[in-house]
Amino acid sequence: MALKMYQKSENPPLSTNTNVIGIAAGKGGVGKSSVTVNLALALKRMGFTVGVMDTDIYGPSIRKMLPENRLPSQKGQVIVPALCEGIRMISMAYFRQENEAAVVRAPIANGVITQFIKQVEWGSPDYLLIDFPPGTGDIQLTLCQQANLSGALMVTTPQEVAVMDVRKAMHMFHQVKTPILGIVENMSYYYHQKTDEKLYIFGKGGGERLALESGVPYLGGIPLDPTLCRSGDLGQSLFSQDPENRTPVVQAFMSIAGRLVQQVSALKSAAQDGLSNFELKWKEMT
Ligand SMILES: Nc1ncnc2c1ncn2[C@@H]1O[C@H](COP(=O)(O)OP(=O)(O)OP(=O)(O)O)[C@@H](O)[C@H]1O
Ligand SMILES: [Mg+2]
Repeated sequence: MALKMYQKSENPPLSTNTNVIGIAAGKGGVGKSSVTVNLALALKRMGFTVGVMDTDIYGPSIRKMLPENRLPSQKGQVIVPALCEGIRMISMAYFRQENEAAVVRAPIANGVITQFIKQVEWGSPDYLLIDFPPGTGDIQLTLCQQANLSGALMVTTPQEVAVMDVRKAMHMFHQVKTPILGIVENMSYYYHQKTDEKLYIFGKGGGERLALESGVPYLGGIPLDPTLCRSGDLGQSLFSQDPENRTPVVQAFMSIAGRLVQQVSALKSAAQDGLSNFELKWKEMT
C-alpha cells in the first residue's frame, strides 16, 4: 500500500474524547513496543476501545508482535487502520516488505507521522497508544507537537544506563509541556521457580528511584518473562493465552493499565479545576 499525500479537507479527525498516550523511553530496547502492545490488550480487556500507532518508521515491530486480523485499507485519501484482536493499528510495516528498510530522510519520516496522525480513520477510541521510537529527535518532537498527547508514559529498566536516557526523554516532554503520566519499570526481575526467588538481573529499583526523584507516579514493574519475549516473536498475544489473568506478567499489565486510567482521569480533573499538578511536581534533575 502506498502513502498518498494527504489533503486538509479529507482529514478524518481523531475525537477529542480520545486519550492519546505516548509510550516513550529515549532509550532503545527497554520494551516500549512490548509495553504498548500489552497495555493496549490490557485496556481492551478492561472494556475500553483502543488504537495503537507504531511510529518507529525505521524499525517498526508492532505488526510482528500483534498481527492483524484485518489488513489496513485505503478509502480515497483516508487510511482505514488494521484490526488486531479488536485493536485499531497502523504501522510503517504495512508500507514496506518485512525485510525492506525505510531509507528515508527525516522530513519524509515526519511526513509519514503526520499522515498517521491526520489521515488515519482512528474514529474515537477511548485510548490511542503511540509507540515512540528511541531517542529525542525530530519524530518525537513532531509527535509532541501534532499528536495532541494527553500525556506520556515512560518505560525504563532498573539499570542506571536506561534510567539516564529516560531522564533525558522526560526532560524533552517537560520542555514541550507534555505531562508525564507515570513510570513503568520493565524487566524488573526474573522469578526463578526452582528456588522461589526473584533475581534482579538488571539491578533493582531504578524505576522507583526515578519516580521519586522526579515526582512522577510509579505505575509498577513488569517481570522479565521468556513467554513475553516468545509471544512477541510468534505474534501470539500473552492475553489470548491467559484469558483469566492468572500469570504474573498479565497481572502486572492489568494493574499498570488500571493505574494509568486513574492517572489520566486525575490529569483531566486537574485540568478542569485549572490546576497543573503534574507540572508543579516536576523537579529539575542534575
Ligand atoms: N518483560 C520482558 N520479558 C522478556 N522479554 C522482554 C520483556 N520486555 C521486552 N522484552 C524483549 O526485549 C526486546 C526489546 O523489546 P521491545 O522491542 O519491546 O523494546 P523497544 O524499547 O520497543 O525497542 P526499540 O527501541 O528497538 O523500539 C524484545 O525482544 C522483547 O521481546
Ligand atoms: Mg520498539
